[in-house]
Amino acid sequence: MSENRAPKNHVFYRNQNWTYPRISRGEGIYLIDEDGKRYIDACSGSAVANIGHGNKEIADYAKKQIERIAFTHLSRWTVDTIEQCAERIAKWCPGDLNHVYFVSGGSEATETAMKMARQYFIERDGNETKKWKVISKWNSYHGATLGSLSMSGTLERRRLYEPLLTDFPKINQFYHYRNPWNAKTLEETSILAAEELEREIQIQGADTISSFITEPVVGSAAPGCHPEKVYFDMVRSICDRYDILLIMDEVMSGAGRTGREMASDHFQVKPDIIALAKGLSSGYTPLGAAVCTDDIFNTIMIDGTGHFIHGHTYAGNPLSCGIADKVLKITERENYVQNCAKQGEYLLSKLEKLYDLPIVGDIRGKGLMWGIEFVKDQKTKEPFKKEDQIRGQITRACMEGGVVLYPGGGSVDGVLGDHVLIAPPINTTKEEIDLMYEGIESGIEKVSRKL
Ligand SMILES: Cc1ncc(COP(=O)(O)O)c(C=O)c1O
Repeated sequence: MSENRAPKNHVFYRNQNWTYPRISRGEGIYLIDEDGKRYIDACSGSAVANIGHGNKEIADYAKKQIERIAFTHLSRWTVDTIEQCAERIAKWCPGDLNHVYFVSGGSEATETAMKMARQYFIERDGNETKKWKVISKWNSYHGATLGSLSMSGTLERRRLYEPLLTDFPKINQFYHYRNPWNAKTLEETSILAAEELEREIQIQGADTISSFITEPVVGSAAPGCHPEKVYFDMVRSICDRYDILLIMDEVMSGAGRTGREMASDHFQVKPDIIALAKGLSSGYTPLGAAVCTDDIFNTIMIDGTGHFIHGHTYAGNPLSCGIADKVLKITERENYVQNCAKQGEYLLSKLEKLYDLPIVGDIRGKGLMWGIEFVKDQKTKEPFKKEDQIRGQITRACMEGGVVLYPGGGSVDGVLGDHVLIAPPINTTKEEIDLMYEGIESGIEKVSRKL
């Protein structure tokens, strides 16, 4: 039986056990509720509001663009804002990822990437090709639609829907803190995790695999986890050797979030397709994209049938594209990516003090995308029991102190494991990091003392 705490109205909320404050407006890093209480949005919703809330320049721009042209269907028209946005995204992506297929969010972006990979091999090799499977990982999240959930390795999100999902092969994540190989260093974990990809390809048969999907820095499934560069050196070379496309899910980590334009840049890896959403439009409008190389585009669209069998009504609408272009333009003009890298380092220097609290097990991340994992015992890494509801307790305690974090769990075995994601707007200042940290520390301390 639920706690039935959500407001009583016609909205079908996600979680009836949550008390939902009613937000009346946003201002920079703050969300302000009806009673005037100010919350520091230390997770940007879910790593979305990259340039903060209530941006006047975006609001003024959106009004003008709506008056000019808000919607056209991409199957029949093109508009300057769509073209400009695609050009800017291509500039932000590595190598020859020059072709931007717009969608409306992250799940659509990863699912588009999966379909694009499938059509690429059909166009290149003919209908007889057997290449359709996507290798993905446990402790990964790629979306809630059936295709993207099939690629996801988050057991709790999958369990109910298992009969509806495609059974894609899964390998282990580069989750060093709980790595299954007993590896002592991140480098060792990175190498062993990459070797699993080659092993799985050999088990499945390379002729059945279209692609491998991975996040460069993990989001909600095991926030902040990332490998060393050697992982992507090996993965890139394995994918090339076995004729498999590398899909990088940068839905959370892309668009400046990790202190680089794309998190792929940290590892100097060029994927074949990058999935983007969230920070791309900073939440000012729903937008996602699957960005592919010249080879994929040319194979399907120039040398092939010229028609990608896919599409969504709101995809590539001139309003969303115009807004995203403006968000990225502001990010470039104000050097927010550089700010993200700088404030990320500063935040880490503060977060490291949290290891003094006995329930803090692991802190990892890049830029302004940090995960904290909580444990019952720092030495043994024993997780809390589910009924302890640690992630909920910590989120509530921090919210009472005016700081919002993004809770999650299940990274130990699909059920156990508690963590939070810290991902404030990438234009957060040093002073705001100080305030944010105070709230985070006191919230975690409060829960830690009570246990
Ligand atoms: C890495 C990653 N991929 C895909 C998705 C799905 O995006 P959306 O919720 O916009 O459909 C998410 C959402 O959290 C994500 O973090």
